[in-house]
Amino acid sequence: MCKFRCESLDDTKKLASKFAELIKENGCFINLFGEIGAGKTAFVKLVADALGIKEKVTSPSFVILNEYHSASIPVYHFDLYRLENAGVKTIADELREYSEGKQITFVEWAEFSQGELPFDRVEINVGYEDDDSRVYEFRAVGDKYINILEGLKI
Ligand SMILES: Nc1ncnc2c1ncn2[C@@H]1O[C@H](COP(=O)(O)OP(=O)(O)OP(=O)(O)O)[C@@H](O)[C@H]1O
Ligand SMILES: [Mg+2]
Repeated sequence: MCKFRCESLDDTKKLASKFAELIKENGCFINLFGEIGAGKTAFVKLVADALGIKEKVTSPSFVILNEYHSASIPVYHFDLYRLENAGVKTIADELREYSEGKQITFVEWAEFSQGELPFDRVEINVGYEDDDSRVYEFRAVGDKYINILEGLKI
């Protein structure tokens, strides 16, 4: 586990750039947790910018999935909020496909998936501190992404 306090959006941008650098070659499957307005989508946007995505990155709350193909690696961004628990079961197999291969997949509101996502992943917990201050806590689940966590610590 590793934890970063970001006192401003600019701090979060630096963290996102570092994370982007670590995942841009081989891809990553990432679950984001945290209350409404914590900074999950903000982090995805900043990683997308760092990867060189040219399209406008928006929250997929209403569409469930946004995808971006203008960087050197494809980026998929799910928001499961509207699906809730029952709906997530219906896309569990699809999510598994997105967890494999050289692609980057972010999943917001993955708590709705309750054990439906047993594969290796990076979990990011975003905590709201006050106005512009946030805590980003990273955890590798499974062996696959331990090196990414190690890279973040350096
Ligand atoms: N240090 C910071 N890091 C990240 N976001 C910040 C920071 N300071 C302020 N913000 C602002 O906090 C807001 C976070 O909103 P965001 O849409 O990312 O939340 P979310 O976690 O995706 O919420 P939801 O559950 O509704 O999808 C943004 O407006 C962002 O600009
Ligand atoms: Mg969001």
